[in-house]
Amino acid sequence: MTEEKFTKKILCIGAGYVGGPTMAMIAAKCPQYKITVVDIDENKIAAWQSDELPIYEPGLLDVVKQARGRNLFFTTELEKNIKESEIIFVSVNTPTKTFGEGAGKSADLQYWEKCARDIRGASESDKIIVEKSTLPVKTAIAMERILSANDKGLHFEVVSNPEFLAEGTAIRDLENPDRVLIGSKETDSGLNAREEIVEIFANWIPRDRLITSNLMSAELSKLVANSFLAQRISSINSISALCEIVDADVNEVANAIGKDSRIGNRFLNASVGFGGSCFKKDILNLVYLCETFGLFEVAAYWESVVKMNEYQETRFVKIITKALFNTVTNKRIALFGFAFKANTSDTRESPAFYITKKLMEEKANVVISDPKAIDNAKKDLKYYNDDIEYEEDPYKAADKSHAIAVLTEWDLYKNLDYEKIYGKMEKPAFIFDGRNILDHKKLFEIGFNVYPLGKPHLIHFKDV
Ligand code: NAD
Ligand code: UGA
Repeated sequence: MTEEKFTKKILCIGAGYVGGPTMAMIAAKCPQYKITVVDIDENKIAAWQSDELPIYEPGLLDVVKQARGRNLFFTTELEKNIKESEIIFVSVNTPTKTFGEGAGKSADLQYWEKCARDIRGASESDKIIVEKSTLPVKTAIAMERILSANDKGLHFEVVSNPEFLAEGTAIRDLENPDRVLIGSKETDSGLNAREEIVEIFANWIPRDRLITSNLMSAELSKLVANSFLAQRISSINSISALCEIVDADVNEVANAIGKDSRIGNRFLNASVGFGGSCFKKDILNLVYLCETFGLFEVAAYWESVVKMNEYQETRFVKIITKALFNTVTNKRIALFGFAFKANTSDTRESPAFYITKKLMEEKANVVISDPKAIDNAKKDLKYYNDDIEYEEDPYKAADKSHAIAVLTEWDLYKNLDYEKIYGKMEKPAFIFDGRNILDHKKLFEIGFNVYPLGKPHLIHFKDV
């Protein structure tokens, strides 16, 4: 298709876990639009242009290949593309602030504000600006103020379209989302902009799943959705601690409560803790928002979700240490999985990071295994240089180890030959299943001392 034949020119600033897959899906579904994705990171853009994409996400390469070079383009050229586009999605990172007012809780909006100023500087026509990043409530208003302070008489309409995809299932989530949320001002120009964005997604998503709201509801809904999801995990993790004491089984409890359709059965897997770049960040963002408005009880309620997650991580390390006769020093401990969840190479805020740090403080010999996340693990743990061993092959990682700890629920770990693994381990051999994915009874019969989460421990001696 020649340039003139494209019915819309759309730009996305930020080619990360959200910008890349989201734009690839729009481009694949809408060949009539020209989609350009821009990033300041040259290496990342080069990777998006190759078959070695910068992120591991099942099915992503196929979707990218359907559209790349046809109507999907990756570039570092910002100014020209801002000028050309009618609609600009902004999908840059919004991490937790590490300095000054609000440090540790509020969002660091420096990347965000830079985009607003770049857009204002380069624009020569009116545009719709779409917030794709997750942002504090009322950011859209701030953005509009920055954009409006132009002396070219240009009008910018800011729309909020938060992203709900989960890593590892991003393609499925984008192709068949539960809902797409589009918030705007309820003025004529706001409602027109809202409809323009609805039109994009209506190319493949049924209209009844395209929900609209005012700007503030859209921004707040994103923070609240993540907070509710994380709250469920913290709730079941808190119960896992109790189950271990009273000989209940957390999976049976989750199954029993999840059958109640008012509760539902999803997001009730007890784990070593939730990770990922967003849950903690977004809850703390909500906490900060509540504190700012003097809602201290509400803030404390949500902050407890993060505290419970930290408790679960700490508890897991304590279980390991106690079981290994109160010392892990000089013991080889194989960590199965470093990614924050299965089917991703992403290690941001992975519970495995915290657990590794704690084991290293105790001078354990840690060996990390993961099918996709070893490169990121090495970057995260570069402080430890060669003190940590990395071994993609789980059999080699477990060789001569005293214990295995399963930290990511990769399918791969369910089907290993544990008899073979047991044969090569130090004895007594221990296995700590931080994801409850293994066959615990079978492992016990092989000879392992087995420590699932939220279930009775299966141990061959009774005094630990
Ligand atoms: P990311 O770090 O993977 O990607 C952000 C990209 O923006 C980076 O590649 C960075 O180089 C680029 N960037 C920053 N400033 C720029 C600028 N001025 N110009 C051009 N490029 C710039 O982050 P992500 O995981 O994609 O998250 C982006 C946003 O989406 C965050 O607000 C996050 O909370 C939200 N979100 C993330 C997920 C997820 O699964 N990761 C899901 C839903 C929402
Ligand atoms: C989460 C949300 O699910 C997405 O809707 C949201 O768009 C995204 O955050 C975001 O804003 O970044 P993601 O972090 O990619 O997606 O992955 P999840 O599947 O939500 O898992 C998050 C963490 O919780 C992982 O560490 C996972 O292992 C853990 N988890 C999940 C559990 O411990 N138990 C569960 O039952 C479910």
